[in-house]
Amino acid sequence: MTQRTLSIIKPDAVARNLEGAILKMIQEAGLKIIAIKMVHLSLEEARGFYAVHQQRPFFDSLTGYMSSGPVVVSVLEGEGAIDKYRKIMGATNPENAEQGTIRKAYALDIEKNSVHGSDAPETAETEVAYFFSRLEMVR
Ligand code: CMP
Repeated sequence: MTQRTLSIIKPDAVARNLEGAILKMIQEAGLKIIAIKMVHLSLEEARGFYAVHQQRPFFDSLTGYMSSGPVVVSVLEGEGAIDKYRKIMGATNPENAEQGTIRKAYALDIEKNSVHGSDAPETAETEVAYFFSRLEMVR
C-alpha cells in the first residue's frame, strides 16, 4: 500500500549540516520526497506537535530542544512508507539502533536523535497536516 509519512531532520542534525546525507539515505531507500521545507519552530509550535507526549517527563526538554534551531520537515511517499522510514531511522535510542540506520550513523543521544518519523497511519495524517497544506505536496 502506498503511504505517506512525516519526516523531521532535527536541530542536532541540521546544526551539523547533515540534511543532505540524511535525505540521501531516505532517497536511496526508495522513498519519494513529495514536500519539503526548513522551519524554525517556536516553543508553542513544538509543544503542539508533540502534544501526545505532554505527560512524559521529557516533554519540556524535548520541546525546548526541538525549538532550539531549524529543522527540515518533509513528506515521504512510497510502498509501506511509515514502516520503511522507521526501519531506516533505527531505534529511538541510538545505543539500540542497528548498523546502517540514520540514528546509528548520526544520532547523539535519545533526545538529540537526529530524525523523527510518524509511527502509524493516523499519526502520519495528523503530522503531515500539521506542517503542509494540500497545495504544498506534489501529486
Ligand atoms: P521522536 O521519534 O521524535 O518522538 C519523541 C521524541 O522524544 C523522541 O524521538 C526523542 O527525541 C525524545 N525523547 C527524549 N527522551 C525520550 C525517552 N526517554 N523515550 C522516548 N523518547 C524520548
